[in-house]
Amino acid sequence: MLLALIKLKIIGILTFIFVIQIKAQTQPLSVIPRPKELIESQGCFVLDEDTYLKYERSNREVERIAVYFHNYLVHYYDLYLTSSPNSKKVIRLKIDNSIQLGTEGYQMKVSRGEILITASSTNGLFYGIQTLKQLMPAQSSDKLNIPYLEIEDQPRFAWRGLMLDVSRHFFPVFYLKELLDYMALYKLNTFHWHLTDDQGWRIEIKKYPKLTDFASWRNETIEGNAKVSKTYDGIGYGGFYTQDQIRDIVQYATERFITVIPEIEMPGHSSAALAAYPELGCTGGPYNVQKTWGRMKDVYCPGKEETFLFLQNVITEICNLFPSPYIHIGGDECPKITWKECTNCQKRIKDEKLKDEDELQSYFIRRMEKYLISKNKKLIGWDEILEGGLSPEATVMSWRGIEGGIKAIKLGHDVVMTPTAYCYFDYYQSRNKTVEHPSYQQFLPLEKVYSYDPIPDKLNDEESKHILGTQANVWTEYITNIDQLEYMVFPRICALSEIAWSAKELRDFTNFRKRMETEYLRMKMLHINYCDHSF
Ligand code: ACM
Ligand code: ZN
Repeated sequence: MLLALIKLKIIGILTFIFVIQIKAQTQPLSVIPRPKELIESQGCFVLDEDTYLKYERSNREVERIAVYFHNYLVHYYDLYLTSSPNSKKVIRLKIDNSIQLGTEGYQMKVSRGEILITASSTNGLFYGIQTLKQLMPAQSSDKLNIPYLEIEDQPRFAWRGLMLDVSRHFFPVFYLKELLDYMALYKLNTFHWHLTDDQGWRIEIKKYPKLTDFASWRNETIEGNAKVSKTYDGIGYGGFYTQDQIRDIVQYATERFITVIPEIEMPGHSSAALAAYPELGCTGGPYNVQKTWGRMKDVYCPGKEETFLFLQNVITEICNLFPSPYIHIGGDECPKITWKECTNCQKRIKDEKLKDEDELQSYFIRRMEKYLISKNKKLIGWDEILEGGLSPEATVMSWRGIEGGIKAIKLGHDVVMTPTAYCYFDYYQSRNKTVEHPSYQQFLPLEKVYSYDPIPDKLNDEESKHILGTQANVWTEYITNIDQLEYMVFPRICALSEIAWSAKELRDFTNFRKRMETEYLRMKMLHINYCDHSF
């Protein structure tokens, strides 16, 4: 009888082990972006409360990463690691200067009793932790089995970005922090923050209080598609970030190895600023904060010295708030209608011996660049900044296709590739149009994002080095709330992260699609409102 009982118990234990094995195998490994090398072997490290997190206590940066990881375990898995260094199971974070994987690369080895993450810098350790998060079950109820494996990983591109337009619709600080967390999870490192546009100025500038008292508000907003609609909602709309909030976001991003690049639009997309300070426009106004979308004819007047004084003062405050080496000055979609009629502008053209209004735009950008350089910053702008000539230090963001990027590289500029056809996440993504917002007519499905390669065939190896990387752009004319924003960003951001991080030879949509099955579960666990019609 006793023997029979023991036998039953053994069968029970064996069944239990078997079930765990099955369970461990039911979730396909989903590391996104795909690592350079990943070799899996038999067995699992079971992450539980007997696991000790080991690192050099004197290194405050590493300690911060360890605490960040522990908070994640507590928050999503209700798991508190042991504080006893004598534990037989450890996760070890180790800085090793001999690792040759660049500043962002890392190695990871999961074996019996140890998860070892090694990197030459804290960036690399941080990315190792992101990978470890993805090796954990995508459902918080599951046992935390981490498969034995070895990973060696480093990014293909240094610039892996996401741009968010907060002018057309405003997104609160608490949500930007969530977004930064998700960016970090997918190893993105550049948050391009589109802070000003025709429909609202969103950053406090101490010297110009009317920018926030006045330019951050519009009286109402167009309803439906701006190309056909004639009705407005009659509801005032606005919001802005205080300088304290800006510093808070920059700090939060920095702790996640994300650089925040502010964009202050000029000379176009400037109606909101002109509404507050009409003396900066060619006609003197009055101007309105715009309540519909499109290209507006009223822009800053480069004929007036006040315009440059204003913008330089704004840029001075911007440079003090953002440690980023780059400041984005927009430069896109600037109609030159008012410049043609303006005596100040025409005088400037004559005095500076410029050929036409295109060269006047170029004069504008060069002058701002000179100022930025005096502040130890680099100028970046949309590809229109090439028109009329550009100084060689400026960096170009190629959005109207890839030709602007190619032209810029031939002229010796660095380039970030973000062509509309592959990188504009305001385009709809599902073939089932009934689930999509009706206002964007262009179609950009997940598979198409995944198919993009930031290096055009036309470039040789030397020229290709000028491609810093790529980014997704999220314009928010028709994205009015957080749910909708997440729907547009996820899962396409996963495809973008793989384009930006993973080696070209490793890109394989079938394999990606398989990993995405797990990733959808993780997005559920993280409460992300992803688009589930992507395949
Ligand atoms: C842009 O989409 N106007 C840069
Ligand atoms: Zn003018």
